[in-house]
Amino acid sequence: ASVASVALLDLVRDISVRAAEFALEARRAGVSVAATKSTPTDIVTAVDRDTETLIRSIILESRPADGIIGEEDVAHVGTSGIDWVVDPIDGTVNFLYGIPAWAVSIAVVEGAAAGDVGGTTLAGVVVNPVTGELFEASAGGGARLAGRELAVNADVPLGSALVGTGFGYAAERRREQAAVLLELMPHIRDIRRGGSAALDLCSLACGRLDAYYERGLNAWDHAAGALIAREAGARVGGPGGGRENAELLVAAAPGLYEELAAALRAAGMDA
Ligand code: IPD
Repeated sequence: ASVASVALLDLVRDISVRAAEFALEARRAGVSVAATKSTPTDIVTAVDRDTETLIRSIILESRPADGIIGEEDVAHVGTSGIDWVVDPIDGTVNFLYGIPAWAVSIAVVEGAAAGDVGGTTLAGVVVNPVTGELFEASAGGGARLAGRELAVNADVPLGSALVGTGFGYAAERRREQAAVLLELMPHIRDIRRGGSAALDLCSLACGRLDAYYERGLNAWDHAAGALIAREAGARVGGPGGGRENAELLVAAAPGLYEELAAALRAAGMDA
């Protein structure tokens, strides 16, 4: 890993831990839906917004020339060529219901196009405030959980793979996902829908899943988790093998990636 990525990772870790403490504390005080976004099921709580505000203020204090692409506020355009891609709470529905699978997800990207991760992710942290698990990675520096080096499970055939996914919020997209699942289910070990894409990618990185795919993610859902999965040895990309994109993300050990991508294409899921 470059010296710059390692220094950035220290800062990302520091900010993520502060944000996680803040969100956990705020959750104890109570939580309710503040507004709906793209659909009535796509929710935001006041804690999502307040946590993002906190994260933004710390970033701007420490690195005022950087840009910020966050889930809950308009993008802040920077001048340094470095962008912070922030999901203050990934897994907001879990957060609302008290299911202990939500996370603060923060990535630092060089050369990103606004709204998507078109550049190089230098550092990323995903922290689950409830369990205290902190996953981190820097480009070329490997991925770790509590100081332990992470590695994805060795390739298994699709038939033995535990596969994570998510469904997004739009009704049409969910209908599409259900049709794909109908085709996929007979060919895999089982499916898991964890409710946080960032944590799903970390689960892949540490062997709790063999593979993960989801259509229609936003950059903030996957930027940090994708780096962590990749640094743990996963191939992460589009179904056609191109680089990761928000439209459809597939991640697994390389052989399984090929098999899953082919199965998804056969089920009609093309990016
Ligand atoms: C959502 C979660 C979920 C995934 C959705 C995301 P949010 O993020 O990551 O698992 O299926 O596509 O939008 O809205 O909780 O930050």
